[in-house]
Amino acid sequence: MVREVIKDIWAVGAIDWDRRLFDELIPLPDGTSYNAYLIKGSEKNILIDTVDPTKEKELLENLKSLNLKIDYLISLHAEQDHSGAIPKILELYPEAKLITNKKGKEFLMDLLLISEEKFITVEDNEKISLGNKTLQFIFTPWVHWPETMIAYLLEDKILFTCDLFGSHLATSDLFVKDKEKVYEAAKRYYAEIMMPFRSQIRNHLNKIKNLEIKMIAPSHGPIYSEPDFIINAYEDWISDKVKKEVVLVYVSMHNSTRVMAEFLISELINCGIKVIPFNLTKTDIGELAIASVDAATVLIGIPTVLTGPHPAALFVIYLLNILKPKTKYLGIFGSYGWGGKTLEFIKNFTTNLKIELLPPVLIKGYPKKDDFLLLKDLVEKIKEKLKALDF
Ligand code: FEO
Repeated sequence: MVREVIKDIWAVGAIDWDRRLFDELIPLPDGTSYNAYLIKGSEKNILIDTVDPTKEKELLENLKSLNLKIDYLISLHAEQDHSGAIPKILELYPEAKLITNKKGKEFLMDLLLISEEKFITVEDNEKISLGNKTLQFIFTPWVHWPETMIAYLLEDKILFTCDLFGSHLATSDLFVKDKEKVYEAAKRYYAEIMMPFRSQIRNHLNKIKNLEIKMIAPSHGPIYSEPDFIINAYEDWISDKVKKEVVLVYVSMHNSTRVMAEFLISELINCGIKVIPFNLTKTDIGELAIASVDAATVLIGIPTVLTGPHPAALFVIYLLNILKPKTKYLGIFGSYGWGGKTLEFIKNFTTNLKIELLPPVLIKGYPKKDDFLLLKDLVEKIKEKLKALDF
């Protein structure tokens, strides 16, 4: 299916309605799309990115139906969901040159075994002319690989951003229509993919702020015909501002940690504090990642297994440590049978996080009267900390 974006620019990628997992890790409740764009210039035509190898056939059919030559194939990002069909395109369009940057070339040679003579490498801000259209490359490393770049079509004022500003959302809407739905999907995408690179994104937003942008065309999800919608959302997500919310994650083996979690939830609600609970045995980790984008505090309920934390809780701590949310406070609670080194594990697994560790409440067996008092103290501490965030 080929769809016209504007005159002489077509969306030629594929919608993946059924995909439910990315990187064998990230849940995709709404599927995704791999957007590729064909631009017809008065002298040259270019294809921006390709699709996941599973959707190669669709891309080829789309290109065939347009029946245009391809002079340049642009790779904005070497990850296979965008680059996977490059070898086939180069085979079917032997005249096409593959344009990327030096790092992108290394990746593509390494990952897809593309031969060196196919490449043209570009520098930051370099432009290529298609005759009546000009494409400028803007390097945006680490969103989310070291080679990532975006491209600005000067005459039409369209910014092609590949992963940046994308959303894992399979939809028949070529352009954003259901803003609420797209906001959630884009926030999930940010949380899972982009959040570790907040400071790099801040630099990239500064780089593009002087461009006049009429449209942002990412490589996942619908196109933004109102670019401020997604740029403002990113400005908010990457800012240091946190919300006075508590994300409470727990796993419980014999109910002791669950009772503590439920007590904390009630106390927080009684104090008027928004709490977002997740029982780890039932949690979509994407939902947890979304909740952690803005929350000032994360509480993790961890039962001890043998001598250390329950592996499910450790998985979440590991995940948060690599996603690097802007969370300010971390609280640990849970129950053990005869001892353990849970706290040491937590300290070793949170080295990326700039957090203050609140007084842990790790108790023996089922919670007793004094243990509930410790949990009350923890809630009081959170209340104080959140109050101090008043801006
Ligand atoms: Fe959509 Fe980083 O690939």
